[in-house]
Amino acid sequence: MLQNASRPNTTDHIPVLADEVRELLAIEPGDTVVDATFGAGGHASLLAAELRGEGRLIAIDRDPSVKPYYESFRRRAGVQARFLHGDFADVLERLASNGARADAILFDLGVSSMQIDQPERGFSYAADAPLDMRMDPTEEYSARELVNEESAKELEKIFRRFGEERYAKTIARAIVERRRKRPIERTSELVETIRAAIPAPARFGEGHPAKRVFQALRIAVNDELGSLRGALPSALDLLRPGGRMAVISFHSLEDRIVKHFLRGGERDCVCPPDFPICVCGEEAELRSITRKAIRPGPRELALNPRAASARLRAAVKL
Ligand SMILES: C[S@@+](CC[C@H](N)C(=O)[O-])C[C@H]1O[C@@H](n2cnc3c(N)ncnc32)[C@H](O)[C@@H]1O
Repeated sequence: MLQNASRPNTTDHIPVLADEVRELLAIEPGDTVVDATFGAGGHASLLAAELRGEGRLIAIDRDPSVKPYYESFRRRAGVQARFLHGDFADVLERLASNGARADAILFDLGVSSMQIDQPERGFSYAADAPLDMRMDPTEEYSARELVNEESAKELEKIFRRFGEERYAKTIARAIVERRRKRPIERTSELVETIRAAIPAPARFGEGHPAKRVFQALRIAVNDELGSLRGALPSALDLLRPGGRMAVISFHSLEDRIVKHFLRGGERDCVCPPDFPICVCGEEAELRSITRKAIRPGPRELALNPRAASARLRAAVKL
């Protein structure tokens, strides 16, 4: 957890599945490495160290507030470094279409501890703040617009799909009812509305009663799944043959997208075996190097409980 945001230090952040990422990406001196989710630079520092003074690291993040962490990282990195602000789906596509090439790409998806620990960003149900949840505050669409402008049907769909919220319909209706009087502006108002809408036993059940709705709103506000779907093919385009990509996801919706993408990329000729030549044109573009998703072990979990839902998959480009 970051203790003091005014004194950024890339070593404050405990990078998830660090040893596994290092091993799977197999970075060598001279490589070009892309950290598509720079955050506080924890992984970037590890990856830069693997370059042993030769090579370069491109850091991407859609949150401009990571810039001081990047500056601190750049001063110590010992390799060429560049920061690109934006959604990784757009930035990776731009890099690939400009002819750039990379040897390793890492995605460590979702929200950072730094973002959650800044109460004013509105990511946390545990602190009262404006309803916001934008990872990129230069974007217009925040949780405030979503909660106050979407129909009950749409809210229900979002809560169900992205939060697997059992009381999605009841909560969506309660929100629409409450906002008729005046807009819901603050996280505490949303938490109160959720609490009042769900049956009493559910208020004390599995975790905080607003947890799933907050997760769903964050995913929807930042179009997290759309960005991931858009970014994976661009990442593959950007990789040199033999280059590797690794993705750490934090919930099953993300992991499913990664798994399907890797499976699709591994698909080779599907012509019947008695065809003399291939007519399907399918050719494997990558080879998965994680048979199953890798999960953190008990030692890591004891040090960093926030890693509990992490799953890592990786592939090499053919
Ligand atoms: C879990 S944190 C990464 C932490 C980082 N690996 C570290 O060790 O410090 C995720 C970061 O990715 C950024 N992010 C999430 N989705 C993004 C996207 N679509 N495009 C660019 N950055 C994104 C977030 O703003 C956040 O800073």
